[in-house]
Amino acid sequence: MSMRKQSLLICLLTLVACICVGATERQSNADYHARRAALAKQMEGGTLVLFAPTEAEGPNNLYGFRQDDNFFYLTGWLEPGAALLINSNPYVEILFLAEHNVTQEKWTGPKLGPENPHAPQQTGFDKVESLDKMHDELLKLLPQPRATVYSDLGANGLTTASTGPLEWLRRGNSFPNYVSFKDAKPLIARLRTVKDAGELKMISRASDASVAAHLAALKAIHPGLNEREISALMQYEFGKRGCERPAYAPIVGSGFFSTVLHYSADDRTMQDGDLVVMDVGGEYSMYATDITRTAPVNGKFTARQREIYNIVLASQEAAMQAFQAGKSKIPTSRTDPDSLYKVAFDYINTHGKDLHGEPLGKYFIHGLGHHVGLNVHDANDSALPLDKGMVFTLEPGIYIPEEKLGVRIEDIFAVGQDGKLIMLSHGLPRTADEVEAAMKK
Ligand code: GLY
Repeated sequence: MSMRKQSLLICLLTLVACICVGATERQSNADYHARRAALAKQMEGGTLVLFAPTEAEGPNNLYGFRQDDNFFYLTGWLEPGAALLINSNPYVEILFLAEHNVTQEKWTGPKLGPENPHAPQQTGFDKVESLDKMHDELLKLLPQPRATVYSDLGANGLTTASTGPLEWLRRGNSFPNYVSFKDAKPLIARLRTVKDAGELKMISRASDASVAAHLAALKAIHPGLNEREISALMQYEFGKRGCERPAYAPIVGSGFFSTVLHYSADDRTMQDGDLVVMDVGGEYSMYATDITRTAPVNGKFTARQREIYNIVLASQEAAMQAFQAGKSKIPTSRTDPDSLYKVAFDYINTHGKDLHGEPLGKYFIHGLGHHVGLNVHDANDSALPLDKGMVFTLEPGIYIPEEKLGVRIEDIFAVGQDGKLIMLSHGLPRTADEVEAAMKK
């Protein structure tokens, strides 16, 4: 093939690659660059080496390859088999891409190769190189007599996308013995704790699409319907609004299964008189949301169901009222006065009783919430109080198996720049009356 034809083909392949990945929104190259620069500052002279999973390692057999969260956070790169190098002093950043494998590209689609002259501009990296050059580029940068390499190290015998390639780099003494390894995850988790404007937009889109899915489910529920139909309907509704996959295994649990926290069989026929808990959220351009609503299958809460529902709702409202940016905390504690869990638990434990006259606190069997971002339980620095730019859930629940009665109400919140809570799952019914009204056909 002539040089001209070859470069025409490469341009065409690049164009097709751009169109193929176009469905997933990407933030500006400057946003990903800013994260790399911020990480470099934290490494204090260290060097990061991070590998994307290979196509075969991609963690999602059902939905196809999904990029590693940390790799995506720092690069915006969605393709498998790449590697990232960031040297903090002097600052150097290189994205390593695999050479073209024409046979494989017939199966997985055209890829951007390291030879493409537009690769730096397209990816936003100062330099894009062939993966084959990684070892040499790294050795050139490592300072002597001591160097620290940060990576995604496995713990307790667990492997990560980086542990295999790191082993390969170390093998055969090709890696100098003055290098020590440190886990990069805590440093990246600290950065991921606070979302930038682009991330907030993606989480809002995931939330809007999932709110629409919950509204459609509330309209569709009736006795005799299988839970799976509701799960399928919700996945369709958020999928048609741009979500690429569920953010976690959808939970649609009715009757006794409303009390089972991570019930995911979703295959029971819903009965008149049941409650159904729907904990379902989509993932939009890699970002999760997490929303739960509880509804009466026949469209009308019984007095007891309404009583428990109202207690759960009021405990969530109490936590929202108590929230103070820069002070409130999310981890489970019944003693820390800044703990929002304590606020919700105390409310639940001092309102209502079980069938034996006992307080209801013992039926609130999980934490009050968690950070949400690239992962539904997002990486974060748990030492930090909740503050501007953080995104998290508030999700109290009461689960009484003896009464086949489970209620969870879960909303997702961001902390605005004014320090106030913004409910990203707004637009869904909250009170028992609103839930019943939304179910009217
Ligand atoms: N809502 C699902 C979870 O938090 O795991």
